[in-house]
Order: sequence, then structure tokens, then C-alpha cells
Amino acid sequence: MTAPLKHSASVTVDVALGDRAYDIVIGRDVLQTLGARVAALRPGVRTAIVTDRTVAKHWLEPTEASLAAAGIPTSRIVVEEGEGSKSYAGLSQVSEALIAAKIERNDLVIALGGGVVGDLAGFAAAILRRGVDFVQVPTSLLAQVDSSVGGKTGINSPQGKNLIGAFHQPVLVIADTSVLDTLSPRQFRAGYAEVAKYGILGDEAFFGWLEANHADIVVGGAAREHAIATSCRAKAAIVSRDERETGERALLNLGHTFGHALEAATGFSDRLFHGEGVSVGMVLAAEFSAQLGMIPADDVARIARHLSAVGLPTRLQDIAGFTQEGLADADALLALMAQDKKVKRGKLTFILLEAVGRAVIANNVEPSLVRDFLQVKLARH
Ligand code: GLY
Repeated sequence: MTAPLKHSASVTVDVALGDRAYDIVIGRDVLQTLGARVAALRPGVRTAIVTDRTVAKHWLEPTEASLAAAGIPTSRIVVEEGEGSKSYAGLSQVSEALIAAKIERNDLVIALGGGVVGDLAGFAAAILRRGVDFVQVPTSLLAQVDSSVGGKTGINSPQGKNLIGAFHQPVLVIADTSVLDTLSPRQFRAGYAEVAKYGILGDEAFFGWLEANHADIVVGGAAREHAIATSCRAKAAIVSRDERETGERALLNLGHTFGHALEAATGFSDRLFHGEGVSVGMVLAAEFSAQLGMIPADDVARIARHLSAVGLPTRLQDIAGFTQEGLADADALLALMAQDKKVKRGKLTFILLEAVGRAVIANNVEPSLVRDFLQVKLARH
């Protein structure tokens, strides 16, 4: 696979879901086309833009301008930045504001932001008046390659992440790759973990291309659009075959069972961004697979080497303060995994690896094996 030399105007990836199919439009400055695309999709529509304070500072005005230029009335709903907004309180704020803005059945909610805003606004749209359509305008790398595509929406319960939610597909995704220029390097890297995930779980050639081109992706060269489009194509293909995660969609959870437990153990705080948890989680999944004799050690080392070259954490010891006494032990991590949605009748579901580019779903993993594995990992310095 070779890197594209020039930025293309835009790339459109189709999510083939029959009469609920939609386009993901990827490219520099495609945000400017939002109004025209929405007007073509829904003539006469009204919209409400849901965003957070930080994204609003950079991108609310251009978004409103694009919609206004197409003659589309808009209102704005601004929530606090961060995971705390993905809560019953955040849902109540957004739902009541949508009702106050008189968003009706045929109108559109526009989610302008990262994963938190997309999940929250999408869920509010799913339940408002028993279902209003929505558009995703993802502004983080993580949202562009993962959370804005595929229709998973929801909020967190005090008892666990994403436990309250609905499948609700967007009608359009606008992934403007130039908006990623305002992300902090750390946020960008965290999103990159989800890009690498597509290579690790199902596309060894893409992983090899990432090893050669990751620097150009970070600086915003043409490789960035290619990486995002390839990731979205991979996700769209899986979602169109298994929308409700009855089978292969679970592969997209590679690194997430360990990752969610690590996020929970660090209080969903800035100590560990979601993508960073996925990075550590993918390496743990690879190492656990090796312990079960499933994957060659060289492949495990290759995965860890690449994530580390990008600047992502790959070991429990990379998480600030994590292995100090009392902060985490194997039993606590196991208890957190048991709260995850990936548990069935006491057995854990893990996505394990047979090679770089070949992931498998393991439904019956004995918790004691995971505990023993984590105990060894936690003891290492
Ligand atoms: N983020 C995993 C999925 O959408 O299925």
C-alpha cells in the first residue's frame, strides 16, 4: 500500500445499511459543504447544533455559517466539555433544549464534537419525540474513525460506561480532517490508537502502511485522509454486515475490555484518555493471546513497537501513578471488567489475536486466567 502524494478534494465512504445507508464525507475543509449537503438531503429542515464549549470556540461559527448560507435555521446547545456530560444530567440538558428549540420529527440534530458530544447528541436524537434524525460532524480523530460511524449512541451510568444507549444511525457524517489541526498532540495520538486498531484487527497491509506513514498522518499530510478513509471503510464494512453486534462487530472492541477497566480505574480522568486505554488494552490483549499460545511473540512486539513509536502508552506502568500501591490490583480490574457489556453468564468476552491483522472473538475466557495474567503484568516494573 503506497501513501497518496496529494490531498484529494474529498473521499466519500458509504455505510451500506439499505434504506438507512449514509455517506461519510472525508477531506480538508468539507465542513464548508455541510449546509449544502443538509439542504439537499432534507429540504426545509431546521437544525439544532449540539457541541461543547471548547469545540464551540473553534468550529461553531463556521458550522453555523455553512448552514446559514444554505438557508437552514439553526439553534445551538452547548454542553460542558468532558465525559461528565455523557450523563443523565447532560441528557436532560440536551433533550430539554431540543424541545425548547422546537426540533420536530422531521428536523435534524447536528452533533458537532468528539465522542462525548456524538454519543450524547445521538442518544438525545434517538429518544426525542421517539426518534429524530441526526448528522455527525466529528471533530476529534477518535470520533472521525470510530464513534461517529456505526450508530452506537448513549450515556454512562454511575455503574458503568455506555450502559444506557441505543443504536441510532446518523444520516450523514462530515469528517473535516483540517479540524484535527487544533487538537493537542496527546488527543491526536489517543485517536490514532483507534486507527492502528483497524490494521491490528483485520488488515496487516494497512498496519504496515501505518508503520511507514504515521508521521505524515500526525502533521496533516495527505496520509491523514487516507488513514481516516481506510479506517472508516473498515468500520463501515463491519457495521453493514453486523449492525447490532451479534457477531463480528465485536472485533471493533479489540483492546476495549482491558481499556475500559483501566479508564474506570483511573476515574475516567485526564490520567488516561480513552484511546490511550485502548492502546494499552490492545497490547495487553496481544500479550494475553501470546500467553494462550495464539500469536507469535514477534507480532506482539511489532504492535507494541508501533504504538510506542507514535508516543502512545503500551504498558500499565506507562499510566501515571497507576501501579503505586492501592491504585489498582488484578481483582479490582477484573471487577471492573465484570461490569462491562462484554460479560455473559460470568464468562468474559475478549478480542484476541492470532497475528497482526487477524483478531478473533473469544467468548468463554475464564476470569481466573485474566486475573493471573494481570497480576504478573502489574508486578512488572
Ligand atoms: N466502537 C466500537 C463499535 O462501534 O462497535
